[in-house]
Amino acid sequence: MSDFGTRMSPSLATEATLDVPSSETKVEHQLQILLGHAALIADERRLPRLIELIRDMGKAVARADRCSVWVLDWEYDELYTVASEGIDQVRIPSNAGLQGLALTEGQPILIKDAHADPRFDSESDGRTGYRTRSMMVLPFWDNNGEPLGCFQVVNKITPDAVFSESDLRLMGLVASYAGKALESAMLNQEVEQTQRELLLKLGEVCESRSKDTGQHVRRVADYSYVLALKIGLPEQDAELLKMVSPMHDVGKVSIPDSILNKPGKLSEEDFALMKLHTIVGYDIFKGSKGRVMSSAAIVAWQHHEKWNGTGYPRGISGEQIHIFARITAVADVFDALASERVYKRAWPIDKVMKLFEEERGKHFDPQLVDALVACLPDILEIREQLNDPPGFF
Ligand code: C2E
Ligand code: SIN
Ligand code: SIN
Ligand code: FE
Repeated sequence: MSDFGTRMSPSLATEATLDVPSSETKVEHQLQILLGHAALIADERRLPRLIELIRDMGKAVARADRCSVWVLDWEYDELYTVASEGIDQVRIPSNAGLQGLALTEGQPILIKDAHADPRFDSESDGRTGYRTRSMMVLPFWDNNGEPLGCFQVVNKITPDAVFSESDLRLMGLVASYAGKALESAMLNQEVEQTQRELLLKLGEVCESRSKDTGQHVRRVADYSYVLALKIGLPEQDAELLKMVSPMHDVGKVSIPDSILNKPGKLSEEDFALMKLHTIVGYDIFKGSKGRVMSSAAIVAWQHHEKWNGTGYPRGISGEQIHIFARITAVADVFDALASERVYKRAWPIDKVMKLFEEERGKHFDPQLVDALVACLPDILEIREQLNDPPGFF
């Protein structure tokens, strides 16, 4: 029962050991802790990190020595904790131990003296050398009343280490908040997963049609990611961009093969039609809600806009152009120039970089040209690894 995958995080340790005088101010103080954590939790989309935050909240509010969040894995009928601070994830059968009991009964459990309670497996303390005195286990549910998991909180950090009924009530609030936060993050993750799969499929379809692309879309994805991190975008945004930047040319599905794969220069008329791929791409994605689809829409729409306003389809400029589209533009043109196309030979890298210097502040966002120069070794390595097969044309 003491196989915990959790430990106190240093920042919250101080908060939780604060000595609070009267019991009234104590509850108020605990509520403040709860609200402080709730704000953090509301902003978190990544499920593992969210579970960590929920655990920290439970631990701080209960003023517990240890707190684990157990999440139900329907597929395997198991409960798991999230790995933390050097401890591996722990999995147990979903009906095992006090966690299983709380979940099946749908009731929180408060144990004041663990070793005197028949429900507690005293041998587990012997195995780990940890002394469990008092424990609370609180299940939490989704909106339909289906169990999602539970809190397990051990040993209050007061001299007698015993949790009270008022601690149990307070933790009931925490558990109900945790259930809502988890449910919405899980739904969000499901939607994003579906969208991710859809995007990959779409990319494959487009690629199989155009003679031009080959590994192009994968390289653009990786270049975009590297550039995004270089200019300081958060990891989450860089990952999102990596997912959507390969979709920038999806609108080319509307372009006839005769134009798309034309060996020579395009006529003015053909190029006018070609330009519509930005708007067509935007139309494909714009109807869907969600971060993934709306980012894909913006990138498809804006990747041929130029920093100085001479691009298409709208001629917007500077920071009016979404940062994802500015990054994709650099990645796309770099790859277009450095690769062979039906209509052009591959350029040597020196010539490619010369163009970027010339177009710094004209076609391209200056900070991104600087980032490209700074990351060139990484970019060239990606190019090496995602090479088009020899004799591609
Ligand atoms: P793409 O081949 O993926 O090229 C993307 C962008 O890379 C181009 O956008 C352009 O900004 C840059 N780029 C590619 N090749 C060159 C080049 O030789 N010189 C310079 N300075 N920049 C280059 P752009 O021009 O808006 O073209 C959009 C798409 O239209 C191209 O995507 C390609 O599919 C098509 N396209 C453009 N020009 C021609 C052409 O002469 N012949 C054919 N068959 N298709 C063309
Ligand atoms: C793609 O977006 O997957 C490439 C589209 C194309 O060049 O046809
Ligand atoms: C965007 O960058 O999010 C779109 C704004 C625009 O219409 O330029
Ligand atoms: Fe394009």
